[in-house]
Amino acid sequence: WSSTAHKTDGVLHVGGMAVADLVANHNTPALVLDEDDFRTRARAFRDAFAGWDVYYAGKAFLCVEVARWIAEEGLCLDVCSDGELTVAMHAGVEPSRIGYHGNNKAMVDLRRAVALGVGRIIVDSFHEIERLESLTAEPGMRARVMVRVTPGVEAHTHEYIATAHEDQKFGFSITSGDALEAVRRLTAAPGIELLGLHSHIGSQIFDTSGFEVAARRVLALHKAVSDELGVVMPEMDLGGGFGIAYTTQDDPSDPAQLATEMGKIVEQECRSLGIDEPRLSIEPGRAIVGPSMCTVYTVGTVKEVILDGGLRRTYVSVDGGMSDNVRTALYDADYSCTLASRASDAPPVVARIVGKHCEAGDIVVKDEFLPADVKPGDLVAVPGTGAYCRSMASNYNHSLRPPVIAVRDGEPRVLVRRETVADLLTTDMGVVQ
Ligand code: LLP
Repeated sequence: WSSTAHKTDGVLHVGGMAVADLVANHNTPALVLDEDDFRTRARAFRDAFAGWDVYYAGKAFLCVEVARWIAEEGLCLDVCSDGELTVAMHAGVEPSRIGYHGNNKAMVDLRRAVALGVGRIIVDSFHEIERLESLTAEPGMRARVMVRVTPGVEAHTHEYIATAHEDQKFGFSITSGDALEAVRRLTAAPGIELLGLHSHIGSQIFDTSGFEVAARRVLALHKAVSDELGVVMPEMDLGGGFGIAYTTQDDPSDPAQLATEMGKIVEQECRSLGIDEPRLSIEPGRAIVGPSMCTVYTVGTVKEVILDGGLRRTYVSVDGGMSDNVRTALYDADYSCTLASRASDAPPVVARIVGKHCEAGDIVVKDEFLPADVKPGDLVAVPGTGAYCRSMASNYNHSLRPPVIAVRDGEPRVLVRRETVADLLTTDMGVVQ
């Protein structure tokens, strides 16, 4: 839960407001964003990593207002598409404070990023290098880049979000020599300024040993570049991926502790390699926005099924589902939830929160205790939905993606409004004609 969330007489409050009052005006499902909590987390990373640059990974959640908060709190922004870059431009984010990612940036994307003066483009393939070489051969086009490398680490997280082992699409392999070759090509290109190496080992990671191994391998390459090519790169990025607590079983990452541990590793390693520390940066997304939001749903139907052995499970269907949170279906993610609109003395039952979509895997919360008297019209809130829920939301079954409503000091503000059927139909040429 976000830091201002609490229950009074069974009613959940966020940002000084009862969520029941909030959704009375805005309907459900709705994502409620605790602005103070978000800003506090952003500042916690900024302050803990003083002397480093902190890039908020916009893919976790981005809209114009949030991009403004990031800039106001002194963070930089990581984008990975022209759409995210456009949001950043609307927010007035300084292009030099933007990092641009992606394993398949098209020429048109690169051209815009370079023309805008984006601070760093994180290069991910030899084809991208070719594109940048030809782009920067044009007058006035200079690119500042980093090289995304694959440090060959097995990050302990879901296979779909682990990115440091060899057999996946991102980065240049250190082991194969591709990373060094990429550096060689980029340093030889007159219009390209190589800032340094970049490594991101995966997401929702708790065990810092993965970061440690990655940092050592990337620093070793950093030194090899200086020894073999005579190029001292000024910067290095160690990526994001810091885990958050989705249920009471997890311990959330602590920015201060992370900063101390990562700082120590880099310092020791640089000392033993006999090199100066490059300017460092990180890219947390989930750890900033994840805990700041919760999703509020209305219960529509309740059904009890009897399982083998006579156990019972209560299926609680809500008015959203995998279209606003695909993480449970996609990564087998764990979430929790609570009855948010009233107190109840009823005994707990094992409930599964499911959506309204046409498939059995449309599960939001696999198992959670809810009061046995949970009924249609009740509000259920799911915490920790700030990262990769709204940003990965879909229109499956022509459903309408939910709003994001910020709350602060009892005042709600719609940052992203709910879609309408008319929004969806603007692209359907059968309607438009
Ligand atoms: N930097 C790079 C290069 C990344 O690819 C990512 C995430 C981040 C930073 C931020 O990682 P974070 O701190 O948020 O873990 N959709 C998945 C997560 C995919 C992460 C993609 N890259 C999920 O819902 O868990």
